[in-house]
Amino acid sequence: MSQRPNKEIPKNFFSPEPGDLVIHAPGRINLIGEHLDYNGGHVLPAAIDHQLELIFRRNNTSSCRVYSESFDNYTEISLDDLSPVNTGWENYIIGILAQIKKEVSSELRGFDCFIRGALPVGAGLSSSAALLCGLAKGINFLFNLGINDKSVILMAQKAEQEYAGTQCGVMDQFAVVKGETDGLIHLDCKTLDCEIIKAQFKPYRFLLLNTNVTHKLSDSEYNKRRQECEEALKIINSAGNNFSYLSDITLDTLLNLKSIIPPELLKRARYVIEENQRVLQAVMALKEGDLITLGDLMYASHSGLRDQYKVSCAELDLLVAHAQKNPKVLGARMMGGGFGGCTINLVHQDHMDEFIRNISQSYQETFNRSLTPIAVSISPGIRCVAVKDRS
Ligand code: GLA
Repeated sequence: MSQRPNKEIPKNFFSPEPGDLVIHAPGRINLIGEHLDYNGGHVLPAAIDHQLELIFRRNNTSSCRVYSESFDNYTEISLDDLSPVNTGWENYIIGILAQIKKEVSSELRGFDCFIRGALPVGAGLSSSAALLCGLAKGINFLFNLGINDKSVILMAQKAEQEYAGTQCGVMDQFAVVKGETDGLIHLDCKTLDCEIIKAQFKPYRFLLLNTNVTHKLSDSEYNKRRQECEEALKIINSAGNNFSYLSDITLDTLLNLKSIIPPELLKRARYVIEENQRVLQAVMALKEGDLITLGDLMYASHSGLRDQYKVSCAELDLLVAHAQKNPKVLGARMMGGGFGGCTINLVHQDHMDEFIRNISQSYQETFNRSLTPIAVSISPGIRCVAVKDRS
């Protein structure tokens, strides 16, 4: 691994002007269906109205110069050396450049990119998928490479796996690219078939509560869960089956094999099968406008993530337990990989402020840490727009 020191932003680095290419790359929520994407299951994410803004300009060199306002960090990457580095965010940039160079065009040219926006990092809103897909889309437009959406999604996923070391599934990238206004994405992660469900939640709204913790375990335990699922599948197939994914298995089949599956692996597999069923029930509930059932499924999802899949933490559990006592909250659960980040809550809009006040106080008293509430709306996926005048 080579190490490129982060440099000061150079004087001749561009400041965005009207006419520049601007990409809006949103974060995502996931209503239900956690840790199912890499298990070939169903998920129900959506893009949100919090996004990164990436502004691009060609620079006619063989270097990519990128400044991130959120990280207050500048980096210069030579297209002739796309080996991984030791620092975090640069690896994402190098990763997507390497993918594009390999899969699409070895003739890639240099550009400048200015990144700003209000997408919290490490909160489980997929800021990394937004960054990777935003870069891929921007480079695609800038150099007219003809990359389609599916390739953007798969290249961004691969860059995260190979350069950031998380063996992630495809949900985040898919939601960032394919999101629609008021549209939940019912995605079958095995086939990548998707259905957009236009749902109305009024008078309820989605509220994220950011714990402001990211436990160290998050990456290593994420990869471990994936391995545990593969291990469980192998044991199940060793009994004469030929399943491709855990989510292809019925609960009866699993329980019939319980004597040969170690107890912890059985819990993981059971969670996957039951969560997959919950997603399908949630889709039906959404189509029928049955928000009560949807909320109950969200609580059940959290219990599974806490007790069977074991990716929750004390901070997330407290928030969900608090929400569950409040009749103005229909459902709540941890969201994303786990071990910190946000909970997602479906809260009556007239009681939102009171709920935030009470839960923030309880969180502060218990953990001596503040909670960040983030109200979100379901919004379009990645878009190419002209630069906005911010003066
Ligand atoms: C992270 C990963 C996704 C998915 C979720 C858990 O966000 O990037 O692929 O596995 O965790 O559902």
